[in-house]
Amino acid sequence: MKLKRLTEGFFIVFEGLDGSGKTTQCKCLRDAFRRAGIDTVFTREPTDGPWGRKIREIAAKGRDNITPDEEMSFFVNDRRQHVDEVIRPALDAGKVVICDRYYYSTIAYQGALGLDRAEIRRQNEVINVFPKPDLVIYLDIEPRRGVERIREQREGGANVGYEKEEFLKKVKENFDAMDDYNFVKVKAVGNRDDIAETIVEIVRDRLGFDLH
Ligand code: TMP
Repeated sequence: MKLKRLTEGFFIVFEGLDGSGKTTQCKCLRDAFRRAGIDTVFTREPTDGPWGRKIREIAAKGRDNITPDEEMSFFVNDRRQHVDEVIRPALDAGKVVICDRYYYSTIAYQGALGLDRAEIRRQNEVINVFPKPDLVIYLDIEPRRGVERIREQREGGANVGYEKEEFLKKVKENFDAMDDYNFVKVKAVGNRDDIAETIVEIVRDRLGFDLH
C-alpha cells in the first residue's frame, strides 16, 4: 500500500541511536534519488542555526546546568526555525526532503531523560506546526554496537562509556515502542550497501519512486 501524500513534496526522516549509521544512509538514499534524476534537500537536526549551536555546546560541555524541560525547549525552538526556513518551503516547492533526525528523537531522547513521551508527541504533533513525515526510517541497532561505532568514528570517542550505553538502552526502548503508520524499522547491522538497498526498496514501495 502506498502512503497518502501529505504535502506537495515528500518528507523522509531518518532516526536511530547515535552510531546507527543514519548519516551514511541518508547520503546513500540521496545518491539513489540523484541517480533517478531527482534532486533532494538534505538537512539535519540539531541544525547549524543558533539553537542548534547552543544544543551542540551543551552536548560538548555536559548537561549539568540544564533541566530536561529546558533542553527540550531548545530542540523545539531549533525545529520551529528549521521547519519555517528549510523544511516547509522545500515541501511547498514540491521537493523531496531527507532529514537526519526529527521529533521522534525528541520523544526517544528527552523521554529517556524522564519527560512524558505522550506529552512530547502532543507538543510536536500540533496540527500544522511541524509537518508529519511521509516516511520515517528507523535504523535499529543494539546500544552496545552504537557505542562501539562512536568510539571507532569520533575523536574523543574513547570516553564514551557505560553511562552512554545505559542511556541509549532507554532511548532504544522508546524508539522500539513507536508504531506509527509512517514508521519503518530497518535492522542496521551488516553491510552498508545491503542496508542502503533495503531502504531504497522501502522508499520505492511506500512512496512510489522508481529508485534503484
Ligand atoms: P547527531 O549525533 O545525530 O548529530 O545528534 C545529536 C544528538 O542530539 C544525539 O545524541 C541525539 C540528540 N537529540 C535529542 O536529544 N533530541 C532531539 O530532538 C534531537 C533532534 C537530537
